[in-house]
Amino acid sequence: MPIDPIRAFIAADMQAVDEVIRNRLHSEVALIRQVAEYIIGGGGKRLRPMLVILSAGAFGYRGRHHHELAAVVEFIHTATLLHDDVVDESALRRGQPTANSLFGNAASVLVGDFVYSRAFQMMVGVDNMRVLQVLAEATNVIAEGEVLQLMNCRNADIDEQGYLRVIRYKTAKLFEAAARLGAILGGGSRDGEQAIANYGMHLGTAFQLIDDVLDYSADHAVIGKNLGDDLAEGKPTLPLIYAIQNGTPEQAVLVRNAIEHGGLDELAAVLEAIRATGALEYAREQARAESRVACEALDCLQNSKHRDYLLQLADFAVTRGY
Ligand code: IPE
Ligand code: IPE
Ligand code: MG
Ligand code: MG
Repeated sequence: MPIDPIRAFIAADMQAVDEVIRNRLHSEVALIRQVAEYIIGGGGKRLRPMLVILSAGAFGYRGRHHHELAAVVEFIHTATLLHDDVVDESALRRGQPTANSLFGNAASVLVGDFVYSRAFQMMVGVDNMRVLQVLAEATNVIAEGEVLQLMNCRNADIDEQGYLRVIRYKTAKLFEAAARLGAILGGGSRDGEQAIANYGMHLGTAFQLIDDVLDYSADHAVIGKNLGDDLAEGKPTLPLIYAIQNGTPEQAVLVRNAIEHGGLDELAAVLEAIRATGALEYAREQARAESRVACEALDCLQNSKHRDYLLQLADFAVTRGY
């Protein structure tokens, strides 16, 4: 399922969101403008803002705060990417050199802080305590997720449950928050809000599962990131966990060692173990299952075009190549 029809359906809203993003990035400090405009200018899929817009629409929201909150969510995402690429020592993002490789780690961390705190200034402007609660909790949980992941770096003993916890925190939580915000703006019922929050959580989980598959199988020109970044830093993602548990004893030792030592020396052999055990297919199937649960969560919502496109978004998350 391509993303273009979804984007076309909400094109006017997304243009309004882009305008908010451009206007709110402003700072008198030149380096902030330079770094922030560089990463935002790199594009990105803008999935999380799309989620805010579609969710608000599904709940019949008619105001304008959804543009502001969609930009807030993209800013939070952007700030985590600035920090994440420093931590992961990544060199390529959105098809261009990462901010850290161009401007240095210090500038990336500090401008990430600026973008984060700008998001908080903007959300306060919406003047809705529930909105603040949701976003304050989400940012807090994302930080926990990144730290949990750090603690499990080079840990070959983490199991699927442990891995799922990390990705729910670091990635799915923001999808959940984005989806929930639309329901809050639209004055959805408690059940409706919880349903779309569940949708967002499962969608985000599916999305990160696929991200971790693509780290071993994408076309780097299409995805705009370097492949093998996860293995390089010894990040135990599901393809590796599955290969350890389902490979021959030799394959298990090989993959364990690769996680524990990091680096890309064994990339070819690890790829072969992943292929032989069907690890990517397994991880893809888990992602599809999450995507199905996400769609089922929308059963209780009234029929609408926005709801249809939310279903399509859940499909894109698991069929995407970038
Ligand atoms: C990248 O997210 C970080 C993950 C949670 C995997 P996206 O793939 O949505 O990044 P952009 O915004 O499109 O570049
Ligand atoms: C993204 O995880 C985590 C965040 C929420 C910041 P990854 O480290 O897998 O994302 P990419 O692959 O760098 O985009
Ligand atoms: Mg990363
Ligand atoms: Mg990744």
